[in-house]
Amino acid sequence: MTNIDQREGFIWINGKFVKWQEAKIHVLTHGLHFGSSVFEGERSYNGKVFKMREHHERLFESAEILDLTPQYTIEEINDIVMETLAQNNLTNAYIRPLIWRGSENLSVFSRDSSINVMVAAWEWKSYFGEDLLKEGVSLCWADWRRPDPRTAPTSAKASGLYMIGTISKNKARDKGFDDVIMTDYRGYIAESSGSNIFFVINDEIHTPAPHAFLNGITRQTIIEISKQKGYKVYSRDILPEELRDFDEVFLTGTAAEVVPVGKIENQVFEIGYITKELRKAYLELVNA
Ligand SMILES: Cc1ncc(COP(=O)(O)O)c(C=O)c1O
Repeated sequence: MTNIDQREGFIWINGKFVKWQEAKIHVLTHGLHFGSSVFEGERSYNGKVFKMREHHERLFESAEILDLTPQYTIEEINDIVMETLAQNNLTNAYIRPLIWRGSENLSVFSRDSSINVMVAAWEWKSYFGEDLLKEGVSLCWADWRRPDPRTAPTSAKASGLYMIGTISKNKARDKGFDDVIMTDYRGYIAESSGSNIFFVINDEIHTPAPHAFLNGITRQTIIEISKQKGYKVYSRDILPEELRDFDEVFLTGTAAEVVPVGKIENQVFEIGYITKELRKAYLELVNA
């Protein structure tokens, strides 16, 4: 597999397209040292970006929280994303806009460093791989918890928050699992490392209330679809002990889409009809 920085194509950076392999930054970049960066993850299907405005609204909200508001409007970012797809001849793609502080000054006070924007896009079929879609992914409990919203800006899609997911997922892979299930700082179930989580019990759908983690755009879409199909949906605090009663588990996220969970630690879950039905409905919606 080609390293991601060795691909062919063009990345939009601060107003112009740069050859993919030449899209570089300085090692003293503020965003790299102090985590002053926020990003989005979007997908285009048949040339149309699913919920693009919602993604860019969240990008700007994240940027505002981290004091990173860029010199562009949401409409301009919408256009840049579409141009990036066109430049790279992509119709079905994963899209990554990023806003970060530059390398002019390396101080905790960040305002002397520039605010930079980039948009990259590439083909990325399946987050977990096609086989895992059939058998379901396996999760183990993470050692790390999602932080208190008073401790970290948990509603922002901030790069720094991914440190928790990364170290947790790496450890899960060492133990032979595909990903993690994380609790929040209070001990309630939160989400996975890069996706939200849903549970099915007695034909009803339960999902953790987004108290200390991202209220995913896919999560919100799945809640809407489920309600339209007549399912009762509960967004609430869920304790780890409740897992033993659940019939089905699935993950949602822009990259992951809707992915069944086959196992959590040593508890096995069937890939049930509600998971299959919602996955199908989601894929129909995004491809419409
Ligand atoms: C930590 C985390 N939680 C949840 C999500 C799901 O969010 P969305 O459905 O908006 O992609 C993502 C992916 O963006 C994520 O990285």
